[in-house]
Amino acid sequence: MSLGRVVVPRELLPAGLALLEDRCELVRGSLELTREEILALVAGADAVAPDLTVRVDDRFLDAAGPDLKVVANFAVGYDNIDLDACRGRGVAVTNTPDVLTNATAELALTLALSAARDLPAAERKLRAGEWQGWDPAEYRGFELAGSTVGIVGMGRIGSRFAELLAGFGVDLLYSSRRRKPQEEDRLGARRAGLEELLSKSDLVSLHLPASPENRHLINARTLALMKPTAILVNTGRGMLVDSVALAGALEAGRLGAAGLDVFEHEPEVAPELLAAPRTSLSPHIGSATYRARDLMSGLVARNVIAALSGEELLTRVV
Ligand code: DGY
Repeated sequence: MSLGRVVVPRELLPAGLALLEDRCELVRGSLELTREEILALVAGADAVAPDLTVRVDDRFLDAAGPDLKVVANFAVGYDNIDLDACRGRGVAVTNTPDVLTNATAELALTLALSAARDLPAAERKLRAGEWQGWDPAEYRGFELAGSTVGIVGMGRIGSRFAELLAGFGVDLLYSSRRRKPQEEDRLGARRAGLEELLSKSDLVSLHLPASPENRHLINARTLALMKPTAILVNTGRGMLVDSVALAGALEAGRLGAAGLDVFEHEPEVAPELLAAPRTSLSPHIGSATYRARDLMSGLVARNVIAALSGEELLTRVV
């Protein structure tokens, strides 16, 4: 017997679909659907599996109707979901933590190294046929060895990023609401206030969730605290950084470089950032490894099945 109607408004990968197909009435949308088409598709759902681009608010929940039991988000972040609205209707919410931690931390490191050496600009020049040959003064960048790295948000991904840096010989600072004695003992990280961290770090990596209080945490004022050679990396959410202020700092030489995987109004990227020098940009691919995306898809499906079978949810948010 079918466990119920499960709507995937956009996409889920085969690792998750295979688990749902046999046990549920599966309704699949596509990446091309408009908001209105998604609202029509979710009508009568017992479970929905949106991704981070699908806004789950009162209107969405009204469109889904009273049978909805779970929103199984295909992401660890859940800033696309109005948690209070779900709570108010007794709808559970799940996410996909842990399985993407390493992939995202590795991308943060990739962007940090790329930004430190201005790899995109060097590659652009080579591809344009403008490389004149080896030049001792050209494209000199920075080494991580011997630098101070500031990790803003020492949760799962921040802490994995710190672990990956272990072989680089860096000093680690972190800022976090709570002290992390384990990370301090294991990784030699020292807790600092945000202002101290920003002013002392050669590399600052953001690993915070999107929340109203974190909006534009990095802005003209906080950028001015950073060293003019510092590198800023953001693999969290675009709203953490005021893009125009960041582009201005890069343009004026008040910041060394930036490595960004996330943007304020995705998929749009502020033209100021696209034009800014010393930027390594990627299109929100932190979790985009075969392993992580398969595990995320499987976790979404297992949360749906648990919710519809009346079992305990694997990774409950609400
Ligand atoms: C997430 O899961 O929140 C990432 O941003 C995408 O995988």
